[in-house]
Amino acid sequence: MIVPKMMTSQLTAHASSPMQLSLLEANGQSAANNGSAAFNDPAFAGNKKLPVHRWVPWIAGFSSDFVRDVLERYANGNSTVLDPFSGVGTTLVESVLFGCNTCGFEINPYAALASRVKSHSHQINATLLDDYIERFKSFYAESARADYLPQSHPPKGFNTRSPFYSPKVLHKVLIFLDYLALIQAADIRDLFRLAFASTMVSYSNYSYEPSLGRRTSAGKSELLDGLVGEVIARKLTEFSEDIRWFQAHKPQKETEIKIVEASFFEYEKYLAAGSIDLIITSPPYLNNYHYNRNTRPHLYWLDFVEQPGDFKNLEYANFGKYWQTVREQTRLELDFCLPDSDLPQKLELLRAQKPEKGIYGGNGWANYAAAYFNDCYKFVSGIQYALKPGGSALVVIGNSILQGILIPTDQYLGAIAQRVGLELVRIDIPRATRVGNSIIQSDVRTVKAKKSHQLYEAIVELRKV
Ligand SMILES: C[S@@+](CC[C@H](N)C(=O)[O-])C[C@H]1O[C@@H](n2cnc3c(N)ncnc32)[C@H](O)[C@@H]1O
Repeated sequence: MIVPKMMTSQLTAHASSPMQLSLLEANGQSAANNGSAAFNDPAFAGNKKLPVHRWVPWIAGFSSDFVRDVLERYANGNSTVLDPFSGVGTTLVESVLFGCNTCGFEINPYAALASRVKSHSHQINATLLDDYIERFKSFYAESARADYLPQSHPPKGFNTRSPFYSPKVLHKVLIFLDYLALIQAADIRDLFRLAFASTMVSYSNYSYEPSLGRRTSAGKSELLDGLVGEVIARKLTEFSEDIRWFQAHKPQKETEIKIVEASFFEYEKYLAAGSIDLIITSPPYLNNYHYNRNTRPHLYWLDFVEQPGDFKNLEYANFGKYWQTVREQTRLELDFCLPDSDLPQKLELLRAQKPEKGIYGGNGWANYAAAYFNDCYKFVSGIQYALKPGGSALVVIGNSILQGILIPTDQYLGAIAQRVGLELVRIDIPRATRVGNSIIQSDVRTVKAKKSHQLYEAIVELRKV
């Protein structure tokens, strides 16, 4: 997840000249003949200034440069590119720009909206959008008086420990929602929704540190008032500029773009076997970064959820589940065999840590890791199913430290992929260190772990034989 990628303040420093390491080469085996040169750094930081990619901050996005690099090496104009965990659509946007057909799966409705709106945005009439922006500015200026009574209401089920918006900010947000309700054109309306969602935390009393929490808990002052309409209008103007840029840079040919708002584990329902030329993706990492909790405001305010129960499916279908959903189980086992790997022993070692801590001890974390690797198995089975023979998958994944124990997820993913019949071509590690990982900032951090291990991100290259 290329760690916290776009929320710049949490972004990690990374090696200025990336260390390139192919584990297969390090083991004296030959790297693939195809694209054996090092990949571009996959970290998202660069995206925040790039057209279209800059629209939505996403803590776990990867860099468009990396995606472009992979497309140049492995794709051509006839390729179909899949991202099983499309996040806010980095792979999809780059694939459209490259002239490829593309498909993304994304389980989080807010991220799926971003993927869909961004990847289709070259189809928008930018002049019409400009008209709507101007009309919004007039509506907002006229309504932003204290005696204006908005018709809109905050989402009923959205409860927070302290008020999400100050009364003055809330008034302005409701004015925006009143205008939103007047927009008939569905594509323009979605752009307005995205502009609101991508800025909504910036004028709230919450912030990403990198998980979403109260500003006051992070030592920041409360926002009693703020620019709301102005921030949204500025974001929409950015959209309008970028749509024109997209239209000017996209190849003329029509491309097919499909966004599936469902779990990739349902791949057989949506994809024909052997229909994909190239997969470029990054699944959630084994760091328990809680996508649902961190997008709670977006999901409520965009009406994707109404009550806490609506999160249940999202939690259980999320890649690797979450530690919170499995920590109380007596024992969650791997549901596949992996001969010649120390993964089972690693899980046992983890399980034996700090039994006195109950659900917070090693057993809960071992359950979480087992759930994660079970989903890795389902994921690579999906790759094996979806790819055409000879097709490649480039998977960006971070390693992890749980209870002080280093878990080389990249190596285990490679081994699991081989188990389902994929060829492990190589594993590159373009960034030597990684910080800002939510787990490392939580109570599982240990000085010992920090001293003896490094966090890194790897690119696992697989091929269907
Ligand atoms: C590391 S992020 C991908 C970011 C993406 N590469 C980008 O640049 O925006 C992983 C994404 O997987 C999504 N996800 C988690 N479980 C999923 C599942 N079972 N099926 C589809 N998407 C899932 C999460 O919501 C998250 O957006």
